[in-house]
Amino acid sequence: TIPVLTIDGPSGSGKGTISRLVARRLDWHYLDSGALYRAIGVAAGWADLDLDDAGALVRCTFDTEIGFQEPEDGDLRVIVNGHDATDELRTETAGAAASAIAAIPEVRAALKDRQRAFRRPPGLVADGRDMGTVIFPDAPYKVFLTASAEERAERRYKQLKDKGVSVTMDGLLREILARDARDASRTVAPLRPAIDAVHIDTTGLGIEAVVGRVLAVVAP
Ligand code: C5P
Repeated sequence: TIPVLTIDGPSGSGKGTISRLVARRLDWHYLDSGALYRAIGVAAGWADLDLDDAGALVRCTFDTEIGFQEPEDGDLRVIVNGHDATDELRTETAGAAASAIAAIPEVRAALKDRQRAFRRPPGLVADGRDMGTVIFPDAPYKVFLTASAEERAERRYKQLKDKGVSVTMDGLLREILARDARDASRTVAPLRPAIDAVHIDTTGLGIEAVVGRVLAVVAP
């Protein structure tokens, strides 16, 4: 069978950056499952759909074509219904739509096979919230990344400051704690580690150190 390394964790744990680097290092395929939910969110926005209309969002999930392109020198591009939506995918609007859409069980079910189709030789690094628990429960390698709320707030603070957005550390920390509570208590796909996942706390660790620890899970 084709090996899979699942990397799950809360936002701000460094999942995206680490998963991409590890995939490149192993020369395996990479699945950004959050991008699928975000892509549906963007498509729903283009179609002016109501985020409370679950039926319309489920139809939108079936109708939306999502493609990934990996240029030799650049970042992954996400193509939604033929349009490059890479930049739009990263907006807060897309994130909020993604999280509303991700709470609909029929949407999650519809995306199951599409996510599993990424499992191709020589292997796959799958990044998300339920990769090790729901999508690839049989994966031989599972990692659960965490970081303290303070560290995640600090990372977010730096990102936003670089973009010229003015925020306070206090406000960000409160937002992150509120989101953690929401994520842990939501009834649809609550964030939890797979029982066989290796936990890695990235608090105070640099990117290279985390990449090293994750690679050690695959090749100890
Ligand atoms: O990871 P990212 O921030 O791109 O994910 C966007 C949203 O999609 C998250 O807020 C989460 O609610 C949802 N999601 C999910 N399951 C995944 C990946 C993302 O529910 N496997």
